[in-house]
Amino acid sequence: MVDYIKHLTNIFCEELKEENPLKKLLAIALTVLATVFTFGAPAFAADAAAGAQIFSANCAACHAGGNNAVMPNKTLKEAALKNFLAGYKDGSKSLEDAVAYQVTNGQGAMPAFGGRLSDEAIANVAAYVADQAQNDKW
Ligand code: HEC
Repeated sequence: MVDYIKHLTNIFCEELKEENPLKKLLAIALTVLATVFTFGAPAFAADAAAGAQIFSANCAACHAGGNNAVMPNKTLKEAALKNFLAGYKDGSKSLEDAVAYQVTNGQGAMPAFGGRLSDEAIANVAAYVADQAQNDKW
């Protein structure tokens, strides 16, 4: 990645030596476009359908149907998440990011899944939970 940035920087510097201002502009625009294209796209798009599988395997024991078998008021429904979920209740994180954080780190009687599930699996299960909650699917 660092090499790639150096490579782009080199191309950029070469372009600045170009005398024809139009060519120069075009080359710069292409470099910027290439950079945005390379770094702007997320490494993977969170996949709620894949997240459903992860949910059944890892979360349903305590959260079947979006409920909470251990702390019944802390469900996975939108209203409860807005009330209780760190990062989401104060609006500092999106619901997906707040769920991913909770899943990675755990809280109280909820185990931490960081290290047990990949970041991608956690992003997918978070996308699933957010979709279920925000679209009233539980
Ligand atoms: C062993 C039971 C257990 C398992 C397994 C479990 N959780 Fe939890 N979960 C809890 C408990 C207990 C809480 C409440 C924690 C607290 O606030 O002290 C909770 C809270 C949450 C919350 C916040 C709910 C709210 O209303 O604030 C989310 C989101 C959540 N869990 C998602 C998940 C996901 C996704 C998984 C699977 C990757 C999972 N949990 C697995 C027990 C569990």
